[in-house]
Amino acid sequence: MSNDSVSQSGTAEDAIYHSVKQDPFIVDIEQKALDNAHLMNDTVRNFVWQGITVVVKDHKTKEPKTILENVEGSIEAGEICALMGPSGCGKTTLLNVLARRDVSSGAKIDGSAVVNGNNPSLGAFRRLTSYVEQDDALIGSLTVRETMHFAARLAHKNTLAKTERMRRIDGLIESFGLRQQANSIIGTPIRKGISGGQKRRVSVASQLITAPKILFLDEPTSGLDSAASFEVISFVKEVAKRNNLIVIASIHQPSTSTFQLFDKLLLLSGGKSHYFGSVHGVESQFESMGYPIPLHTNPAEFLLELMNIDFASHQEAASGRLQEIQQSWVKSPKAIELSAHVDAAMTREEPLPDTKPSKRNFPIILMTLVHRSFIKSYRDVVAYGIRVAMYTGLAIMMGTVWLRLKQDQSAIQSFTNAIFFGGAFMSFMAVAYIPSYLEDHATYVKDRANGLYGPAVFMLANFIIGLPYLFLIDVIFSVIAYWLGNFQPTAQAFFMWIMWLFLDLVAAESLVVLVSSIFPNFVISLALTAFANGLWMSVNGFMVSPKLLNVFWRYVFHYIDYQAYVFQGMMVNEFAARVYSCGSSCQCMFQTHMVDQCSFSGLAVLEQYGYKVGRTGEWAGILLAIVLGLRLLGWSALWVRK
Ligand SMILES: Nc1ncnc2c1ncn2[C@@H]1O[C@H](COP(=O)(O)OP(=O)(O)OP(=O)(O)O)[C@@H](O)[C@H]1O
Ligand SMILES: [Mg+2]
Repeated sequence: MSNDSVSQSGTAEDAIYHSVKQDPFIVDIEQKALDNAHLMNDTVRNFVWQGITVVVKDHKTKEPKTILENVEGSIEAGEICALMGPSGCGKTTLLNVLARRDVSSGAKIDGSAVVNGNNPSLGAFRRLTSYVEQDDALIGSLTVRETMHFAARLAHKNTLAKTERMRRIDGLIESFGLRQQANSIIGTPIRKGISGGQKRRVSVASQLITAPKILFLDEPTSGLDSAASFEVISFVKEVAKRNNLIVIASIHQPSTSTFQLFDKLLLLSGGKSHYFGSVHGVESQFESMGYPIPLHTNPAEFLLELMNIDFASHQEAASGRLQEIQQSWVKSPKAIELSAHVDAAMTREEPLPDTKPSKRNFPIILMTLVHRSFIKSYRDVVAYGIRVAMYTGLAIMMGTVWLRLKQDQSAIQSFTNAIFFGGAFMSFMAVAYIPSYLEDHATYVKDRANGLYGPAVFMLANFIIGLPYLFLIDVIFSVIAYWLGNFQPTAQAFFMWIMWLFLDLVAAESLVVLVSSIFPNFVISLALTAFANGLWMSVNGFMVSPKLLNVFWRYVFHYIDYQAYVFQGMMVNEFAARVYSCGSSCQCMFQTHMVDQCSFSGLAVLEQYGYKVGRTGEWAGILLAIVLGLRLLGWSALWVRK
């Protein structure tokens, strides 16, 4: 490829590169090189893999299917390698194998990958490497600096002095050209934040806080236009070069200038290697195999077209041609030289100092996670703000619909309805928490895969941060609806109502967390939570009195239905101490021992449902146990899903 064609096809990007280079921040970093001293790699010299083969059981045919075959390669410190090939060729799979992450379940993996000729333990390997996934999984309401700050605190617990932590954060923010965005939020569906390319840079920068020597990036430029892609890769390259890091990135359709930022290229198609070597050597290699890259063509695009047979008009001819290319690559002097180099590197052991695992510090991680959620909770209206507003609206609506209803026997049904509706609807609307939880969950999955913390501390932090907000919602709702609606007007009854509603909200949120942890998908989780709430409403005792409910629903669901305990608790709270007059005609709805006084006790209403008084403590205890059960199940769901 001539220089001419590069500058012609990449004028816009050249301008950016120029500006990246000229950027005062970058110049700054030269002077502040010390700020990134922790990033410097002087231990890992090379990363080499050989004979990587992955066989899975095909989803459809159930036959073994080879998705990677005998892939090899070698990268030296300071180099950045592109993993390129058509969609489905095995890039993510290879990256996962190299990063020692889970490949699809039941996959059989062969081959080996070594660091300095050593095969470090999984823990040691994880401490040497970092993996940045295709999806950003950032918390949208945090600023860039806060994101880095929490990444640092979670990674280093409190082993790093504050000044050193700040220095590292500042160094990374500058290295990735994010100084001007440092105090901008990442962006939520409601509040726009930084650009897509900047988000990708934050994702990479926040992974670098742990100072990995090898960095895996899955599609770091997906969804970005060519200018933003170029920016991301050039920042990564700058950092890798300066600190002698190894970077392996899968990439789709890079522009000419982005392509040329890479040092090495691994070209995959159908799970087989079709080239591995320097980026500038690919041209002569393909020319020697009879496929010269035409002038003024984007080499990456040319190679991808050559590798992709999915859309070829003559499938057989195309696949034959691809096979031919693969054969001539395997026989080429470059490939033979590579194999010899890999063979030698595999056995040439060089020392690899083992880093000590940082101690898991439960209280510090818990505090950090609660702090992170706290910032999100007040800044992101999706987390709690919308629900506070909605429940306030609901309270005003309920309070005015049931406005000062007279306490006579004709209103008993209306009060019962209010008690049911309040509890059930409050529980139902906990679904509004799903989007916010799913965002946290995605961050948790990423953090866990990077070994930052486990499911228990995440679940506990999530539980803690919800409590004050649920209590606030509870109090706002009750203050408005309880007094407008003319419920039992004693302080004790009011506080009892607050307690029941609080337990209701806590249980409902725990249910959302459980369902969304099993199915971390918005629509599925919404449908299932809504279904569960429909079920709890049907069997909570209001629709069909527990006395009449058939044994299946009673024994399988009624007793574990948190709404049932809330309903009966509130019913007892409202009716136990009431006495109703039967009016001037003395027609009593219920016949009790007070019939001679032409009135009846509210206990008769409770009797209808079979509710006994004096069991408040027991029911509240059961509710707490249900909450605990839901949280434990949620924790196990997280624990099982690695
Ligand atoms: N259990 C399985 N059964 C059948 N095929 C599978 C299974 N697991 C993975 N594959 C296939 O393995 C191939 C490699 O997938 P991989 O995700 O690594 O591709 P990719 O190159 O990253 O694709 P993309 O560019 O679209 O991200 C795909 O063709 C995929 O369909
Ligand atoms: Mg992929």
